[in-house]
Amino acid sequence: MKTTKGNILVVDDDLNLLEVIRMRLESAGYDVVTAACEEDALSSVRGSAFDLSIIDLQLERGSGISLMQEVHGINPEIPVIILTAYGSVESAVEAMQKGAHNYLTKPFDHRELLLQIGRALENRRLGSEIKRLKGLIEERYEFSNIVARSDKMQKILGLVSHIAKTDSTVFVHGESGTGKELIARAIHVGSSRKDQPFVAVNCAAIPETLLESELFGYEKGAFTGAAQSSKGLFAQANKGTIFLDEIGDMPLSLQSKSLRVLQERLFYPLGSDKPVSVDVRVIVATNKDLHKEVSEGRFREDLFYRIYVIPVELPPLRERKEDIPPLVDYFINNLNTRMGKKIKGMAPLAMQKLMLYDWPGNVRELQNSVEYAMAMTQHDVISGDLILQTGGHAPERLRSLKEARDDFERGYIIHLLELTNGNISRASELAGKYRADFYILLKKYKIRPETFKKGQ
Ligand SMILES: Nc1ncnc2c1ncn2[C@@H]1O[C@H](COP(=O)(O)OP(=O)(O)OP(=O)(O)O)[C@@H](O)[C@H]1O
Ligand SMILES: [Mg+2]
Repeated sequence: MKTTKGNILVVDDDLNLLEVIRMRLESAGYDVVTAACEEDALSSVRGSAFDLSIIDLQLERGSGISLMQEVHGINPEIPVIILTAYGSVESAVEAMQKGAHNYLTKPFDHRELLLQIGRALENRRLGSEIKRLKGLIEERYEFSNIVARSDKMQKILGLVSHIAKTDSTVFVHGESGTGKELIARAIHVGSSRKDQPFVAVNCAAIPETLLESELFGYEKGAFTGAAQSSKGLFAQANKGTIFLDEIGDMPLSLQSKSLRVLQERLFYPLGSDKPVSVDVRVIVATNKDLHKEVSEGRFREDLFYRIYVIPVELPPLRERKEDIPPLVDYFINNLNTRMGKKIKGMAPLAMQKLMLYDWPGNVRELQNSVEYAMAMTQHDVISGDLILQTGGHAPERLRSLKEARDDFERGYIIHLLELTNGNISRASELAGKYRADFYILLKKYKIRPETFKKGQ
């Protein structure tokens, strides 16, 4: 097998120079990947691990500095050497301030290039060892509300702690209930924006007609009923983070309107011709396959490439079952406080059931199951018969998540009412809910509590 001194990405729109550098570096024993534009460079960085990158300052489209920042958004550890034209020292200095390892002025001597590469790689080797040791200490405390025993989740936390420190757009993908919002909040809290607002917008929950004014705000008189002007969610998130949840469900009309703000951090409130500029970190989440949505014309390709900068893929719970026991402990602890109980844990059979189940609703479904069992149990250890009574058999997995969730909730409420003979106060207390909220659930599922009153 061929061993090389390192894997290097070279980005320049001057194809001749690109070839020259490639030949020089290859003959010096490096592996080289070349890219003539930003898009190719980024997709290479996403696809493989590089030890170093050489980027031309003046790319045909966009600047090398912003490309460098995007590369660092994906992998902050890659040292970048910037190539600048003779005389653009200011930009070179800016590049250094923004995280370049060093710069070279064109035309450069190839020995000088090799020397710099050698130094950068040595530096990186030392630096990453120190970081690794530090990280072992820091990461453990940073995300105390995220349970992550599995390798998969540990890796994600590692990634999250790195990207929190950048300002790049993060694209969180995962099935329902896998913790997308939790991760989005963790990124915000781990960032320098943590003391500024975190504004979450559920793009699927707000009606299409309202979403635009919700996001961008409106001027007084922009439409009937707009008696006063209103600040939109983007403006509210200024200096902080905006979390566009379920972005895959954003209506096409609004996708085009969102493009500008994501591209230029600039938007027009409804009924206004004065642009408003904002400084926001953008995090988006979806459980949809956006590649597919794009190819089927339901999601704009240009918007997709704006938001698909740093992808974070949350694995379903069934692919990381090691997380189940610590998650159960975590939920029991939290719920003990909330419900005023002293449950110690799961009986072996109960844990076995949890481990064997497939968890289509992921962590949220597990949380609900633990909550249900804790509400039901009369003992301080939860027995197996309280686990997954309402689901878990193969055909049921064909239902939609919402149906399954609703069924669970309905079954849970019915159990509570049976247990308490239809006593709403007791039932809502056991559920850890306010009476008013409990009534809303009764109404939602059309359950009549009086039918649970026993005897005369
Ligand atoms: N690793 C974890 N550790 C602790 N709690 C978790 C973890 N993952 C998820 N949860 C909890 O599970 C619930 C669901 O998580 P969250 O709302 O972040 O999921 P989601 O992916 O946004 O779901 P949806 O697609 O349904 O919106 C939350 O109560 C969250 O706190
Ligand atoms: Mg969510």
